[in-house]
Amino acid sequence: MGKRMLALLMAAALVLALGACGGAPGEPSQAAPEPPRAESPAPESGAETPEPSAPSPEAAPETPPESQSEAEPEEAGEPKVGVVYFSATGTTAKVARLIADETGGELFELVPEQPYTAEDLAYTNDDCRANQEMKDPEVRPAISGDVSGAYDCGVLYLGYPIWWGTAPRIIQTFLEGGELEGKTIHLFCTSGGSGVDQSVRDLQGLYPGAGIADGKRLNGATQGDIQAWIASLNG
Ligand SMILES: Cc1cc2nc3c(=O)[nH]c(=O)nc-3n(C[C@H](O)[C@H](O)[C@H](O)COP(=O)(O)O)c2cc1C
Repeated sequence: MGKRMLALLMAAALVLALGACGGAPGEPSQAAPEPPRAESPAPESGAETPEPSAPSPEAAPETPPESQSEAEPEEAGEPKVGVVYFSATGTTAKVARLIADETGGELFELVPEQPYTAEDLAYTNDDCRANQEMKDPEVRPAISGDVSGAYDCGVLYLGYPIWWGTAPRIIQTFLEGGELEGKTIHLFCTSGGSGVDQSVRDLQGLYPGAGIADGKRLNGATQGDIQAWIASLNG
């Protein structure tokens, strides 16, 4: 009896033990993928090899389009054109607008930080502001606003009224306000009768590196006159 009971107990224990092992295989099989996941850096590091070649094709197309688009205007020989002018009473401004229309250039008005009143411009009065400025070669009337874009232009048309035979001092403020070496500057003026030549000589002498090429008096110029002038410069 004792042996039978012992045999039964052992048989029961064996059945229980087998049952417990039946669940166990499932666990390792779930745990088994984990190590590969932990090893996944290895495949990734293996994938690093093709990665450098992937960015390089991407970087390669990016660089040429940028450099091409920047280089295109220069390669095409089409420098940016700017039309810069000072006009105290509007006469030079009208001509400047015609030049901008003709050339497609960007207009930059040199607006004095302290605007000129009629009294300032009353040149029959020896002491009026305009006359005082023209007597003092050191005066540089400040320009209001931002005209820095003008210094990015390869070709500039620079206009002014003639004051006492030459260019107003604010033109010198502009010429000294940025890098103009290697540019081409065409001067233009309006006046009560004086020509442009003295102002061209004066500005060329003061700013020999600025690329001041020539000048023209353009009082009452029509679009046709401007067209002919621009054509003569480019021809
Ligand atoms: C202070 C001052 C000085 C001037 N000096 C001369 C001059 O020397 N010769 C001349 O022909 N006109 C002279 N003018 C006349 C202007 O050059 C002329 O009216 C010009 O077209 C005005 O241009 P704006 O309207 O663009 O300012 C002078 C005008 C002023 C206000």
